[in-house]
Amino acid sequence: MFSNRLPPHAEINPLTRARSALETAGVAIADLTESNPTAVGITYPDDLLGMLGADHARRYAPQPLGLDVARAAVASDYARRGAHVDPQQIVLSASSSEAYSWLFKLLCDPGDAVLVPQPSYPLFEHLTRLESVESIPYHLVYHGRWEIDFLSLTAAPANVRAALLVSPNNPTGSFVTKEEADRLAEICRARGWAIVADEVFADYAIDVKNPRTECVMGLDVLSFTLGGASKSLGLPQIKLGWMVVGGPEPERSRALAALEVIADTFLSVGTPVQGAAPSLLARGGSVRDPIRHRIAGNLARARSLSAGYPACTLLPVEGGWSLVVRVPAYRSEEALTLELLEREHVLVHPGYFFDFPHEAYIVVSLLPPPDQFVDAFARTLRFASTPSSSLSEHKR
Ligand SMILES: Cc1ncc(COP(=O)(O)O)c(C=O)c1O
Repeated sequence: MFSNRLPPHAEINPLTRARSALETAGVAIADLTESNPTAVGITYPDDLLGMLGADHARRYAPQPLGLDVARAAVASDYARRGAHVDPQQIVLSASSSEAYSWLFKLLCDPGDAVLVPQPSYPLFEHLTRLESVESIPYHLVYHGRWEIDFLSLTAAPANVRAALLVSPNNPTGSFVTKEEADRLAEICRARGWAIVADEVFADYAIDVKNPRTECVMGLDVLSFTLGGASKSLGLPQIKLGWMVVGGPEPERSRALAALEVIADTFLSVGTPVQGAAPSLLARGGSVRDPIRHRIAGNLARARSLSAGYPACTLLPVEGGWSLVVRVPAYRSEEALTLELLEREHVLVHPGYFFDFPHEAYIVVSLLPPPDQFVDAFARTLRFASTPSSSLSEHKR
């Protein structure tokens, strides 16, 4: 009855099923996958969202690419990070997920493909599939940090239209370096591919000197740099995303004109949020700074706890909201995460959820409240460091 483009329903995931069963039985779960900043006890200024109800919200005067006042506010926010962006290059959407769907409509016909980093954000599979676009992985390899495996990228077939990159990447936290961005742009120019650069976590650099944000918009290749309020402002509920269209003319203007047609078909960004954008972006630090503080604190706590569990290795975090932990492969990632949930009532993501190249990794969010994080992460490290045989003996 329904389209076969629909991705499988989340309920078939064994972890989701086990979690629902436990919660139905009244068990409290310590959720180390929580990535919603509004659900982790961060204090938001009381009046932050007040501007959403201001006078500007009363009159509907749609502009497909976004209201001038909001596009100018996004350009000013790039200036905060040291990037010069012309507001005319900016397109507003309801989220970066929606921006992806617009870009796949813009760049691909059904059956065309885009190159997607692996490991990375699992929603790419859904976003491409829903647009009848194939996602072809290229690999990130770990040599003390995660780097692009250019061999896997250049092996791409002829139906590729764009290469996606995520900087810093979710969940590996790795930034794309200048050398990598330049090399990628060279390949894209030669092959006629566009670059889609997802920089939604660019404001959350952690252990990296001079993080490379805005890594492709100044290069000589058609590019789309994505950002949004859900991460940059810690406000996923206001539904505001943006993209900066970069690259040489006339491709850039042609892309903007075509995006205007797509955006005009949906007109999905609400007037209240666009009118409030200047105030929300100007006050972005009021939420961003507590989130940064939370992440840095939890990362320090995780490092200190891990000293007691040498079998588990915390991978470096250059940016973002996640921490990757390499754990002993005493059992599969699936068995480990399910047992951890059922016995310790702690939920973490298995590495395979993000397509890590091999087992065994787990991924935890650095957002949860510190006391919950410390308790649940300590239990996770202890459990992951214990061979399954010792656990069953212990049970007997
Ligand atoms: C790398 C990455 N890109 C995009 C998104 C989606 O962001 P938005 O809320 O703007 O759709 C996420 C959400 O977690 C993400 O991790």
